[in-house]
Amino acid sequence: MPSGKRGRFAEGTPLLEAARQLGVHVESVCGGRGICGRCQIEVQEGKFAKHGITSSNDHITPFGGNEIRYAEKRDLKPGRRLSCTARVLGDLVIDIPQDTVVNAQVVRKDSDGRVIARNPAIQMCYVEVEEPDMHKPLGDLDRMLIALETDWGIGRPVIDAHILPGIQKVLRQGEWKVTLAIHHDADGERPHLIAVYPGLKNEAYGIACDIGSTTIAMHLSSLLSGRTLASAGTSNPQIRFGEDLMSRVSYVMMNPEGREGMTIAVREAINGLIDKVCAEGGIVRTDILDSVFVGNPIMHHLFLGIDPTELGGAPFALAVSGAVALKSSEIGIHLNTGARTYMLPCIAGHVGADAAAATLTEGPHRQDEMMLLVDVGTNAEIVLGNRTRTVAASSPTGPAFEGAEISCGQRAAPGAIERIRIDPETLEPRYRVIGIEQWSDEPGFEEMAKSVGVTGVCGSGIIEIIAEMYLAGIISEDGVINGALAARSRRVIATGRTWSYLLKDGEPRLTISQTDVRAIQLAKAALYAGIKLLMDKQGIDHVDRIGLAGAFGSFIDPKYALVLGLVPDCDLDKVKAVGNAAGTGARMALLNRDHRREIEDTVTRIEKIETALEPKFQEHFVYAMALPNKVDAFPKLAE
Ligand code: FES
Repeated sequence: MPSGKRGRFAEGTPLLEAARQLGVHVESVCGGRGICGRCQIEVQEGKFAKHGITSSNDHITPFGGNEIRYAEKRDLKPGRRLSCTARVLGDLVIDIPQDTVVNAQVVRKDSDGRVIARNPAIQMCYVEVEEPDMHKPLGDLDRMLIALETDWGIGRPVIDAHILPGIQKVLRQGEWKVTLAIHHDADGERPHLIAVYPGLKNEAYGIACDIGSTTIAMHLSSLLSGRTLASAGTSNPQIRFGEDLMSRVSYVMMNPEGREGMTIAVREAINGLIDKVCAEGGIVRTDILDSVFVGNPIMHHLFLGIDPTELGGAPFALAVSGAVALKSSEIGIHLNTGARTYMLPCIAGHVGADAAAATLTEGPHRQDEMMLLVDVGTNAEIVLGNRTRTVAASSPTGPAFEGAEISCGQRAAPGAIERIRIDPETLEPRYRVIGIEQWSDEPGFEEMAKSVGVTGVCGSGIIEIIAEMYLAGIISEDGVINGALAARSRRVIATGRTWSYLLKDGEPRLTISQTDVRAIQLAKAALYAGIKLLMDKQGIDHVDRIGLAGAFGSFIDPKYALVLGLVPDCDLDKVKAVGNAAGTGARMALLNRDHRREIEDTVTRIEKIETALEPKFQEHFVYAMALPNKVDAFPKLAE
């Protein structure tokens, strides 16, 4: 447990060996010497006596030599055993605990509570090396590699050059006992020796990082226990070169130093985040041996130092679409000298490694249900599929969903209106503001508003207000503000030849104009038309499940997404915000190299649809300008 795998084993098989035969990863650093404690398991069912006592009908061997020493020194929890030492004698149900933390550290629960089965690319292998002998002129390194092969079955790995100068010192310092850090590729074919530590090194760390165009988020995890030790985020400093993606590409096109400046900026920010997570996790950056990065194609290219100009126009050619694996030091990321960096593959010119990571997390390719996964930003990345077939596209939604191009739009920050309700009778609004607990009509709001301010409307607020205006009859199905309502409500006001809705009077005055409504209609029509194209390709007229990814997806109320027709009709309880699915996918790839192979295979099978080339796009777009849609019904919404 929790994998549920079962099997039969000869009496006396060590539990660690039984787990391996079942393909269940149980950590081991000391190679079964009973000193690292990484291989702990819990006996869920099956009898065994306490340490120091034996009983004739035990289902597992009694505590023996190394295990007794470990239990006495490190205090093995009740019910726990070292799987390298304990052997099978009868029927057992074995639990692989997720908290096998040997070094007592204060660790935080993973933010999304997800348990990721581990099989990291880094393997820590403790070996005891034969001392040098004048009669056997084998080199220190060569004898170390013989021990690696004998104890761990790892044939001669590729040796990183930086290892050689220090090898003799490390071996002597560790009194011929050393721990080797071995890096395995996703295909498991070419092990590399990337670090050597004196004695038993019973920990190794990795970082998973999502490079967003607005924010960069990083998690620090133990590669041996899977725990997240620290998380941190920062805004992407590339913003100073251009607010959105296309303006950054333009900046590169117009400035000879532009690409380099943005590459340096993002790498500096990432190195700064590494300092932060190390300080919070109580480790040093040289303890980090592996790193995984995801990002949209432009972030991906700039991070790798690749000019993104080709991504600025058709045919949106990626310099590299497959997964990229290299040494972190080669791209200016300061970790252990031998640390590795892995970037997930990109799906297409506008559907990046972040969408691949979200796909890995949500796993449409692992399900029978038809799942729609949408990440809304300046460009919406859309993946639609199930076990049989998966298709993907991007749609040019523009920055309206992020609050740009909207007269009262702003970033999601304190002072931004994020929730709105409009009374259909009086047309009076009530709203909630980021940084203020109360709704605007509740006691205490005014007081708080004086200090926090009410400065604008963020992306999720804009979706709500347009949807609420539609539900209250202020705007028609075609998105036209009904000026006749001005006669009965002070909230509908004339603005030149069109009408606006007055959301807030005073300073600043916040209104939703006809142009604002149009901007949202255009953005949502582009998104919906992209989704419809993918549904056409799949030959379906409804989806079973919808995942709204990213920051925007996390705050948007699914009901309003349907009211506006951002996404197709679906059971409301099957429309879910999936949080930072890209970041979680990065952590999955960090902690389990099988996931790297899985997403590499999946991406090669995803069919990419170029929305700009599809004649039906325009037709879907026109119908989707209506609220929620001119031709498509939303029966689930009516329920
Ligand atoms: Fe190290 Fe069991 S493998 S204690």
